[in-house]
Amino acid sequence: MNMVNYKELGLVNTKDLFKKAIEGKYAIPAFNFNNMEQMQAIISACVETKSPVILQVSSGARKYANQTLLRYMAQGAVEYAKELGQNIPVVLHLDHGDSFELCKSCIETGFSSVMIDGSHLPYEENIALTKKVVEYAHANGVSVEGELGVLAGVEDDVVAEHHTYTQPEEVVDFVTRTGVDSLAISIGTSHGANKFTPAQCTRDENGILIPPPLRFDILEEIEKQIPGFPIVLHGSSSVPQEYVATINKYGGALKDSIGIPEDQLRRAAASAVCKINIDSDGRLAMTAAVREVMATKPGEFDPRKYLGPARDELKKLYAHKTVNVLGSVGKA
Ligand code: G3H
Ligand code: 13P
Ligand code: ZN
Repeated sequence: MNMVNYKELGLVNTKDLFKKAIEGKYAIPAFNFNNMEQMQAIISACVETKSPVILQVSSGARKYANQTLLRYMAQGAVEYAKELGQNIPVVLHLDHGDSFELCKSCIETGFSSVMIDGSHLPYEENIALTKKVVEYAHANGVSVEGELGVLAGVEDDVVAEHHTYTQPEEVVDFVTRTGVDSLAISIGTSHGANKFTPAQCTRDENGILIPPPLRFDILEEIEKQIPGFPIVLHGSSSVPQEYVATINKYGGALKDSIGIPEDQLRRAAASAVCKINIDSDGRLAMTAAVREVMATKPGEFDPRKYLGPARDELKKLYAHKTVNVLGSVGKA
């Protein structure tokens, strides 16, 4: 396997993007992808709204898509954006890296940013692992995201039943001893499409479920400890109910699907939160569109006839996020 540096692929790291995002009170979208249609939708939406973008790949997605193909897809994404008329900044980021070896391998195959997620480890082990990744990454100009605190829900194969909120008194020690470029925190978001049970929610006058608010008090305390330091929010899908309804209308069986309200994310984006991770909403958009075609056009068997509408729906969703949720519109 030939080593390749991200700069050769036309990618950028997160340094300048995060600095501008904090100053400008918006957040950069980090959209997960693992196939061509998702990548096309992300790039075309971000070009159209002139937004910088973080293309995010989990270790499972990397295995699924193949590391060599991914490198060329990321390079293709940069060229595709130019062809569409906007040279937007594109980051290729490893999501939830769980070992030094995986981070090193990604850095050697063109990633411009990696997350080392030691949040499930004892504190000192998280520091040691994160620091080791930072040393290798920085020698190659690659940015590193670390994590403190544990989100409830499923992250790759790790399941946590309850949130362990980030402890503000740990963050100064963690960021200074590790040298990370950004810090993912736990303030009440979680992965997947079932972020809250109905019992955790209240109802408004129309009977719509309102989830408990994010812990902005913890976020504010963290910002006081590390002023101006880039903060990352995982688990930030809003789980649009129209997608859930379409999926269930056409044979799906999603139950109690509840996400983070968009106004909560807009509030977070205006703070030191400068990267917001969204995966599940894309999965829902794609599944809703595919199910609708499958159910309403049973004679259809050309994949372009269901992946095409899925791609169109994804593009709409991503454009909506940059304009109405993250505020990254026009910041490329
Ligand atoms: O945080 C997890 C991301 O949504 C990626 O999910 O590991 O199923 O690719 P995945
Ligand atoms: P969602 O499951 O809320 O989309 O979160 C995605 C994420 O945090 C990827 O790291
Ligand atoms: Zn995540």
